[in-house]
Amino acid sequence: MTNASEQDRVLIFDTTLRDGEQSPGATMTHDEKLEIASLLDEMGVDIIEAGFPIASEGDFEAVRDIAINARNSVICGLARASFKDIDRCWEAVKHAAKPRIHTFIGTSPLHRAIPNLDMDEMADLIDRTVSHARNLCDNVQWSPMDATRTEHDYLCRVVEIAIKAGATTINIPDTVGYTAPRESADLIRMLTERVPGADTIVFSTHCHNDLGMATANSLAAVEAGARQIECTINGLGERAGNTALEEVVMALKVRNDIMPFQTRIDTTRIMNISRRVAQVSGFAVQYNKAIVGKNAFAHESGIHQDGMLKNPETFEVMRPEDVGLTETSLVMGKHSGRAALRAKLRDLGYELADNQLADVFVRFKALADRKKEVYDDDLVALMQDQTSPEDDRIVLKSLRVVCGTEGPQTADMTLVIDGAAKSVHATGDGPVDATFNAVKSLMPHNARLALYQVHAVTEGTDAQATVSVRMEEDGFIGTGQASDTDTVVASAKAYVNALNRLIQRRKKTKPDVQVKSAS
Ligand code: KIV
Ligand code: ZN
Repeated sequence: MTNASEQDRVLIFDTTLRDGEQSPGATMTHDEKLEIASLLDEMGVDIIEAGFPIASEGDFEAVRDIAINARNSVICGLARASFKDIDRCWEAVKHAAKPRIHTFIGTSPLHRAIPNLDMDEMADLIDRTVSHARNLCDNVQWSPMDATRTEHDYLCRVVEIAIKAGATTINIPDTVGYTAPRESADLIRMLTERVPGADTIVFSTHCHNDLGMATANSLAAVEAGARQIECTINGLGERAGNTALEEVVMALKVRNDIMPFQTRIDTTRIMNISRRVAQVSGFAVQYNKAIVGKNAFAHESGIHQDGMLKNPETFEVMRPEDVGLTETSLVMGKHSGRAALRAKLRDLGYELADNQLADVFVRFKALADRKKEVYDDDLVALMQDQTSPEDDRIVLKSLRVVCGTEGPQTADMTLVIDGAAKSVHATGDGPVDATFNAVKSLMPHNARLALYQVHAVTEGTDAQATVSVRMEEDGFIGTGQASDTDTVVASAKAYVNALNRLIQRRKKTKPDVQVKSAS
């Protein structure tokens, strides 16, 4: 048996902020990106792909600021195969203690047809762009996009060129989620055996989950010699998403007996970052999602509960605490004090400054007044609830909704807009429709409601509802989330939050180049 020090290290490359954020509707604000990057850094992610600097001024600033603030992680930016992209990427990542440029081009027949380059012209472009990146930065990653549908001879040829031009990591993307585990492993083995210089670089795997095989494909690549896995928190990403970080990391930890590889990830931080990514992206985690789903550690059936009481290993291959999940138990009530709240929140992964605690305590008391039993999940919802930041133009002041079997439903609402209170009486087809109509008549806009989702935080008729809203207008997206024991109030707050963020985005972000198509 091998001991830990002899085991191979697998680098974890997180692309939540690039490939994940690229997923339609998952746009994050500048501050949210910085916060997620810092959580990734703290949890031990080796490389953070912080964005696509040339895509917009906002992307550039986010990558630059993440680079400035990074502590341990390598900070990487994405660039297409053009000097202009690569220069812009370098301008952003050069501020990191450990910068990396990641440049790519589609090499499969379908992708070669897009820039209309023949094989030789593309090979020459790869040589020139990778050399250019390497002249700027010692740490260069190159990806042949759609590698799994690229002819093997051509793939070997271009990988060799990229290595000779100075790439230090060669990433093999399964861009369309087409490969299967055996093929994924064979491809890495084939490249290792055929490409001169393959032993001098790190092979990386980048899988998409279109056929539900991203985790299996990534692990198969590692078994065949890849030593970097590209992944995202919660598997966030375009279409069916990317390889989920929590899945590959926990698989390597739990089945270390058959996959003897090490990562540097502090797995006890997984739940906290998963919740945070779900909140800021507006993409809720499915209940039965491996590792981070609400039901991943729930044992409802009688047989399971009996077995669990006798020995947790009967039905669990890992402990909830391994991923940072504290037991969902009755924790607090209206008599609980500030110190107890602080201790409980610390257990849940939230370290609060005194002024933050004071704010949360007020909201906790208000919740405890309405809800007898306050569970861990209620506290998480409370923490994730967007309070009104100072730059919010709209604040919900009051709402009274009348509904019943005889329509139409009505909403009397007061909003404070730019400091002035404004009221309206609106009708709608249902209480939520009436509420949203009220907001719209007080703050007219042309945004389309792209998502409206309601989740019960816990069980029971007094459970809080968490509502997620996503709004789109002229290519800008605003997401909002809010929780309340009253579903209509949570909906109103989430809608107002989304609208505030849309307004801020319209102000701050001007996409200057439409390049958000690389997946
Ligand atoms: O899926 C893909 O091919 C990508 C590349 C840009 C690495 O995301
Ligand atoms: Zn991708």
